[in-house]
Amino acid sequence: MSSAPSLRLSPAPQQGTREYADVDRAQLPPDVAGAGASIGAEQADATTSSPTASAVDAYLNSKILHPSFGADESLARGLQRADEEGLPRIAVSPQQGQFLSVLAKSIGAERILEIGTLGGYSTSFLAKALPPHGRIDTLELEPKHAKVAQANFLDSDLYPFPQIIIGPALQSLKKLSQPEEGAYDLVFIDANKDQILEYFLEALRLTRTGGVIVVDNAIRQGKIILENNTNEDINVSGLRKLYDWVEKDQGKTVLMSAIQTVGGKSWE
Ligand SMILES: C[S@@+](CC[C@H](N)C(=O)[O-])C[C@H]1O[C@@H](n2cnc3c(N)ncnc32)[C@H](O)[C@@H]1O
Repeated sequence: MSSAPSLRLSPAPQQGTREYADVDRAQLPPDVAGAGASIGAEQADATTSSPTASAVDAYLNSKILHPSFGADESLARGLQRADEEGLPRIAVSPQQGQFLSVLAKSIGAERILEIGTLGGYSTSFLAKALPPHGRIDTLELEPKHAKVAQANFLDSDLYPFPQIIIGPALQSLKKLSQPEEGAYDLVFIDANKDQILEYFLEALRLTRTGGVIVVDNAIRQGKIILENNTNEDINVSGLRKLYDWVEKDQGKTVLMSAIQTVGGKSWE
């Protein structure tokens, strides 16, 4: 995707206000790319003759991470905490996280559901996009991951505070009803890949008409086009079932767009 969606926030930025202009990047955490750096992004190198996707990610991180979103120091601390606790480095990138914030804000999301919490990095981007009366529920299999996420949410002082539901996501989803306040506006699916279609169908049940369901890792280095993928590390069968389902749906239920992205996290 070569577009760069951005969202006009209110109030309008004025010259010299801390909100946008004059953010002193020196005050930000060391390479807030940071977040990016800890998940393998290269430094942006202005002298390189052959830019890489990772270097471009690092450059973008240095330019467009918002002080209250991607450049929030507590998010970088959260990634560090996850590292120290031995969690795998498989969180969304800072750019992807901030994209989730843009998306949630642009649809005026008030209720968000996430499948796959890990250390709560993406959860935090989503929670930060909610109004104070909003709600975010996040499903996680591993109690250890949930514990780290909980610590990170406290450190970031998130409000609304995410509710973590521990257990196999499909079981949790089956027990979940649409929130009393109304159906979810946005669902982010980012857990085990073999059950993506099941998660998607549950998400459809729990989402309002016009709501948005985001499925991460939709391309898997292009392996989705391989019918007989033998690489067990990159499970594409769940994704292929999802795309087959959308094909059969013939546009009756969903309007889907799949975006091939590159960046510090490769071709996803
Ligand atoms: C890619 S990570 C989530 C990353 C997170 N969304 C982020 O970007 O910060 C996937 C998470 O899903 C969890 N998971 C795996 N299988 C699961 C299952 N059956 N039910 C719930 N969570 C599961 C893993 O423990 C892991 O924490």
